[in-house]
Amino acid sequence: ENQLSANNNALTARKQVETASQRLEREFTLSTAMLHNLVKAFIRDMERGLKREGAVMKMIPSYVVRRPTGEEKGTYLALDLGGSNFRVCEVTLKGKGQVRSRQKKFVVSEELKNGTAVALFDFFADCVAQTMEEYNIDKQASLKMGFTFSFPVNQQGLNKGTLYHWTKGFTTSGVVGVDAVQLLQDAFVRKNLKINVTALVNDTVGTLISHAYVDTATIMGVILGTGTNAAYVEKIENITKWTGPKPATGEMIVNMEWGAWGQDGIILPTTEYDVKVDRASPNPQKQSYEKMISGLYLGELVRYVIVDLISTGQLFAGSRCEALEKEHSFDTAHMSRIERDHSMELTDTRSIFEDLYGVKKTTLSDRRLVKRICELVGTRAARLAAIGVASVITKTNKLDGATVAVDGSVFEHYPHFANRMRDALRELLGINADNIVLAQARDGSGQGAALIAALADNGDEKF
Ligand code: GLC
Repeated sequence: ENQLSANNNALTARKQVETASQRLEREFTLSTAMLHNLVKAFIRDMERGLKREGAVMKMIPSYVVRRPTGEEKGTYLALDLGGSNFRVCEVTLKGKGQVRSRQKKFVVSEELKNGTAVALFDFFADCVAQTMEEYNIDKQASLKMGFTFSFPVNQQGLNKGTLYHWTKGFTTSGVVGVDAVQLLQDAFVRKNLKINVTALVNDTVGTLISHAYVDTATIMGVILGTGTNAAYVEKIENITKWTGPKPATGEMIVNMEWGAWGQDGIILPTTEYDVKVDRASPNPQKQSYEKMISGLYLGELVRYVIVDLISTGQLFAGSRCEALEKEHSFDTAHMSRIERDHSMELTDTRSIFEDLYGVKKTTLSDRRLVKRICELVGTRAARLAAIGVASVITKTNKLDGATVAVDGSVFEHYPHFANRMRDALRELLGINADNIVLAQARDGSGQGAALIAALADNGDEKF
């Protein structure tokens, strides 16, 4: 009993002397030992998903059974619905791994994201018509199109699949359980467009395929953007739940839907702030891994930490900042700016809080603390992402060398993200980590959809 109360006293004492920054460090840091344990759990959950329907990590067979040779040719249209952006692309494959493409970007409004299927898909069709006009593409020629629809889709064929559930803040009605290609074809009919959608593709699969067009060592595509997910090349005999015909190539790309990992709430070491982000989201207790890694949520996590430290008087002298109390009012791009602020006085950080958010006065130690929070949240995200990559590399036995194509705003623009991932990969895989190339892919998902449409054209196998 004495021992117990001594322990309790020590605990209370530690709590008292522990600064805010020390506490956050303790809560947000993933040690090397934790990384190793998480990889074990991750591989176990990959295997569960390959075995049966209904697993947390869905491991969806994509119906894409071959990688491009680089010699594919032809002109295709591609639609790319990722997160907040929607793109219409015209992609010309010229062979020898060369691609020419032009694209127009559109913003999907919050209203459309939360409206009806008809409104959303009519908007897509209008954007296509507008792009074809601008690019002088003959509307009467029946063109083939690849549709990148970056959500968990129950794929039933190369150009057929129904949405399991929305992610990334979408709640559009009338889409869950419905074939996304059919919704798009119907909208094209309404708008008099003679387009044939021949491939329905996840952005991770598109990224893998488009990078494989230029680098045949590519075995994995990863998205670290608004959301996060990955796809990789798996041996067909390892996809034990697959009951369809065996492709001659002996392999199929699997869309992992890894963002869903950890949703049973046991595996991932979450903080009270993760719980807040999750509860306020339209999909509570779903996509736990994604909510700790991707751009839609990182700023939100930091915002909750800041608001908490203001309320305890540990930041900004405890004076409330209403602008920061609104959900999603702190963009992940601000974290990037703060992490990039290397000035002595942290002047850019000051201008973010004092000019943009109207905080009356920030001290240098306030700003240092905010910067530390961003580092902790950003580093944890990168280390978690490395767990997924290390798991796939380990499971597929590619420790001797592989290219991983990575796209998405977080990987591309968030400072130090790639290096922090590499550090974690080194902790996990030792010197073998140096054989793994994390290659920045750009615009892969649209081009990949066009390539998959082309592969479908040339393919001798039909599923
Ligand atoms: C979300 C989607 C997934 C997509 C990822 C990246 O996790 O569910 O399909 O690949 O975001 O865009």
